[in-house]
Amino acid sequence: MPKVTFVTEKVEIEVPTGSNLRDEARKAAVELHPWIFKYPGLNCMGHGMCATCRVLVKEGKDNVSKPGLIEKASLGVLHVFESLGMEDEMRLACQCTVTGDIKVETKPEMNISGDIFWQKPYPNK
Ligand code: FES
Repeated sequence: MPKVTFVTEKVEIEVPTGSNLRDEARKAAVELHPWIFKYPGLNCMGHGMCATCRVLVKEGKDNVSKPGLIEKASLGVLHVFESLGMEDEMRLACQCTVTGDIKVETKPEMNISGDIFWQKPYPNK
């Protein structure tokens, strides 16, 4: 069975292959949603629309399903600022199917003032 490690919470669980990352986090009492979004009705309950279940897949990117259309639209269009600079690692937990060992960071900070956002387009000119 794949092993999921929630780095910040220092929680390690084994999950069935093909299980949903958000569902497994909830079973393990790991909170993915920040602030008031943890309350039912204030998040989309796993439909990929609110983007409040964002996680960074720090290890094992190939051990989760690829982003689908809903996730790409949600992170890439509707919530582009939240994923800036972390596009390769950031996923919506509710849209991830776990197929192998992964390490994830929950509730990542926005990188709106980070290096990548403010980077000059032609740094050496
Ligand atoms: S719970 Fe809303 S996007 Fe995952």
